[in-house]
Amino acid sequence: MSILPERVELKTPEQIAVMRRSGHLLHRVHDMLAEHVRPGVTTKRLDELAHTMIRDEGAVPNFLGYQGYPATLCISVNEVVVHGIPDDTVLAEGDVVSIDGGLIIDGWHSDAARTHIVGEPRSTADEDLVRIAREALWAGIAALATAQRVGDVGAAIEDLVEAEAGETLSHLEGFGGHGIGTAMHQAPDVMNYRTRTRGPKIRPGLCVAIEPMLIQGDGAWEMDEDEWTVRALSGGRAAHWEHSVAVTEQGLLVLTEGDGGAEELGRRGIRAAPDPLTATGA
Ligand code: MF3
Ligand code: CO
Repeated sequence: MSILPERVELKTPEQIAVMRRSGHLLHRVHDMLAEHVRPGVTTKRLDELAHTMIRDEGAVPNFLGYQGYPATLCISVNEVVVHGIPDDTVLAEGDVVSIDGGLIIDGWHSDAARTHIVGEPRSTADEDLVRIAREALWAGIAALATAQRVGDVGAAIEDLVEAEAGETLSHLEGFGGHGIGTAMHQAPDVMNYRTRTRGPKIRPGLCVAIEPMLIQGDGAWEMDEDEWTVRALSGGRAAHWEHSVAVTEQGLLVLTEGDGGAEELGRRGIRAAPDPLTATGA
């Protein structure tokens, strides 16, 4: 453990433009996967599809080989919260499936997760879980536009979950988001709830991955023997949503969203930064 926090790597507009290319490809990989999340597909098959697309586009998967991680995606089904390893598990109607992925273009990393319900939801509790986790992500992103310190992101996520779910959902404690850029995991830590640390100042050039992880019922969890799979002890189901986001002089750019965050930020009264992917002129 270091005593002084690690330095935050602030990115130039040119570097953020490359991170946007990385994030936008990851968005397209997630869209492709969403088409294949159906009853009967194995999690291993989804992993192969992602790997092939990332390679075909000239990018590099960043999870594969990370601290020995054996796959391109983390696919976490039902009571698995995060870091499920793709295998012969066959998806069934009503399953709650979190898909987390990341990639590198020209040295710049992106990281994003979505949670799907396979076919018809089993219960409104499952629908609420997935919806609130997604809302929590956008509340955290929106906080980046208005707040002073990275710690305020966790406060915004905590407040949203408290207001929407009360005691019915719990955060996965001990896990959180992170800075992202020339590595997948950088300073600062981005927690999903209030802590004693205010965190560094939010300022142009800051790029972070925000990733709320919610579990039905209490938050108790255990790690499988594979030392990756994180499982809810209660058997409650879990959801995980994540975006990589850049703070720029002209506002926020949600790097891993198709429209750079324009629609969801607009709904919250925030204008997204111009998207370097579609910028004309200058
Ligand atoms: N998105 C996750 C994270 O930010 C997944 C990375 S774990 C890996 O921590 F080992 F699979 F890479
Ligand atoms: Co992440």
